[in-house]
Amino acid sequence: MLLSPIPLVVAVAFAAPAQIEEGARIAKRSVTGNAIVFLNTSTGAPQHLASGLIYGEPDTANQIPSQFYSDIDFNYGRAGGAQIPSPGLGWIWGLAEYENRFTSALSNYKTTRQNGGKFVFLLHDLWGADGSENSTAPFPGDDGDWSSWDEFLTTWISDMNANEATTGLVIDIWNEPDGIGFWKRTSAQWLQMWGRTYYRLRADFGVAEISGPTLASPPSLTDTWWTDFMSFVKSNGSVPDQYAWHMESGGNDMQSAVATWQTLLADAGLPQTGAVSINEYATYAEQVPCGGAWWIAQLERVNAIGLRGNWLGTYALHDFLAGLLGKPNAGTSAYSATATGYWPAAEFQVYKYYAQNMTGYRVQTTPTPDLNGDIYATVGTDKVRLLVGARITTGTWGVLLEDMTAIGLPASGTLEIQTWAFTGSSDHFAEVDAPTNLGIYGHEYTGGTLEFPIFQTDGYTAYAFEFAV
Ligand SMILES: *[C@@H]1O[C@H](CO)[C@@H](O)[C@H](O)[C@H]1NC(C)=O
Ligand SMILES: *[C@@H]1O[C@H](CO)[C@@H](O)[C@H](O)[C@H]1NC(C)=O
Ligand SMILES: *[C@@H]1O[C@H](CO)[C@@H](O)[C@H](O)[C@H]1NC(C)=O
Ligand SMILES: *[C@@H]1O[C@H](CO)[C@@H](O)[C@H](O)[C@H]1NC(C)=O
Repeated sequence: MLLSPIPLVVAVAFAAPAQIEEGARIAKRSVTGNAIVFLNTSTGAPQHLASGLIYGEPDTANQIPSQFYSDIDFNYGRAGGAQIPSPGLGWIWGLAEYENRFTSALSNYKTTRQNGGKFVFLLHDLWGADGSENSTAPFPGDDGDWSSWDEFLTTWISDMNANEATTGLVIDIWNEPDGIGFWKRTSAQWLQMWGRTYYRLRADFGVAEISGPTLASPPSLTDTWWTDFMSFVKSNGSVPDQYAWHMESGGNDMQSAVATWQTLLADAGLPQTGAVSINEYATYAEQVPCGGAWWIAQLERVNAIGLRGNWLGTYALHDFLAGLLGKPNAGTSAYSATATGYWPAAEFQVYKYYAQNMTGYRVQTTPTPDLNGDIYATVGTDKVRLLVGARITTGTWGVLLEDMTAIGLPASGTLEIQTWAFTGSSDHFAEVDAPTNLGIYGHEYTGGTLEFPIFQTDGYTAYAFEFAV
C-alpha cells in the first residue's frame, strides 16, 4: 500500500509535509532526453480534462468571480462539507452537524454547476470521516449494523431531491479507504458497504454516476485493496461508472497506472469500460507551473479526468480554487474565509493558456524516457502550441517534433519558435498576471524533424512554444 505523504483534505491536521517536500523537491530526480510530438497523429479535440479540483470553492455563492472559473474552463468540482467547524462535523455527531455539512456541500455543488462543472459528492465527509474523526467514531456496518448508514443515505437522497441537486452528479461512495484515516475498518467491511450502497443508489438515486474505488494508491497487481475490489465488483455486479484513484505520492505516472488498471480489469474478467477519474492529482510541491504542465500532459495522453489535489485545511480548504488563486492575507493568521480580492497565482496562467489558447486538435506526444519531462500539444488553425513541463526538477532535455510535413510545413528550413515562460516560486499564493515573453528564435531543421533543447534551471517554470502553420 502506498503511504502517500498525507491524505488529502486533512493536510493541515498532519505536520507540514509541504515544507519537507519543498526542500527535497529538486534533489529527488533530474530530467534528460527528448519528449516527442507526433504532428502526424491527432488524438482528438481538447476537452481540458485536467481542469477539475477537489474543494477550493468557497461556501458563499459568487465569492470567487466567475471569470476565474471560465478562464480555466473549470469542469469538475468535488466536496462533501469537510473541515468546517461545529456544528458541521457530519452525520455521526448528530443531525445539526449533518445539516451544516450538507449546506456547505450543496453550496459547492451549486457553484460548480453555475460555472459549468460536474460535481463529485463525497459521502465519507458528510458522514463525518474526514480524517479528523476519533478512533471510536462509528463506521458504516460496524458489528453488522447498517441502520445508521441506511438512514444516512435515506436522509441524503431526500435532501438532494428536495434541493433539485440531481444533475451533473457523480457519487464517490468512499474516499481513500486504503488511506490514512478515512476508513478505520477492514477491507471486507468496506466492500460490503460498497455493494450495499451501490445497489441502494442505483435503485433510489439513479440520476447520479457512481465512482470508485477512489483508492489512495494507484492500480497495482499486488495491492489487495485493488485486486479484492475488482473481484468483488465482478461477482457483485457493482461496476463503477468512473474508476477513480489518486496520484498524490510524487511518484508513478499515468501511462503505467492506466496500463495496470487495464490488466486488473482483464484479470478479473471485467469489461474495459468506464472513464478514468484521477479525482486528486499532484502533490503540494508539484502544484507549480512546471508540475501543472507535466500533469496536464500526463492526464491528456490517457484521456483521464483530473481534479487537482488540495493541500489546505479548515476554511482555506474551501478557497483559492485548489491552489490556483491568492488573495490578501492568504496563508497568514489574518486569513479570512470570506474576504475577496482574488488574484491569479502562478499555476493559474498555465491552466488559462491550456484552456484558452491551446485550440484546434490534440496530437500524440511521449514523455522523456525518464518520464520527468512531458508535453501537451495542439495544432490550431493559426499555430501549433506546446505546453512543456518537467516534474519539479532540473536538467537539460529537449523536444523532438516528428513529421513537420504532416501539418503542411516544408521538410527543411528555418522555423521561428516563440517561447513563453510561466514562472512560479515556493510561495504558491504569489500573484502572477501573465506568462513572460522570451522572444522568437529561428531553428534550422532538415529531414522533416526538428529538435530543440530546454534548459530547465529551476523546479518551477513551465514553457509554451508556438509556431505558425
Ligand atoms: C507518425 O510519424 C512517426 C515518426 O515518423 C511514425 O513512426 C508514425 O508511423 C507516423 N504515424 C502515422 C499515423 O503516420
Ligand atoms: C468520538 O466521536 C463520536 C462521534 O462520532 C462521539 O460521539 C464520541 O463522543 C467521541 N469520543 C471521544 C472520546 O471524543
Ligand atoms: C452486492 O453486495 C451487497 C453487499 O454484500 C449485497 O447486499 C448485495 O445483495 C449484493 N448484490 C448482488 C447482486 O450480489
Ligand atoms: C492567448 O490568447 C489570448 C486571446 O487570444 C491572447 O490575448 C494572449 O496573448 C494569448 N497568450 C499567449 C501566451 O499567447
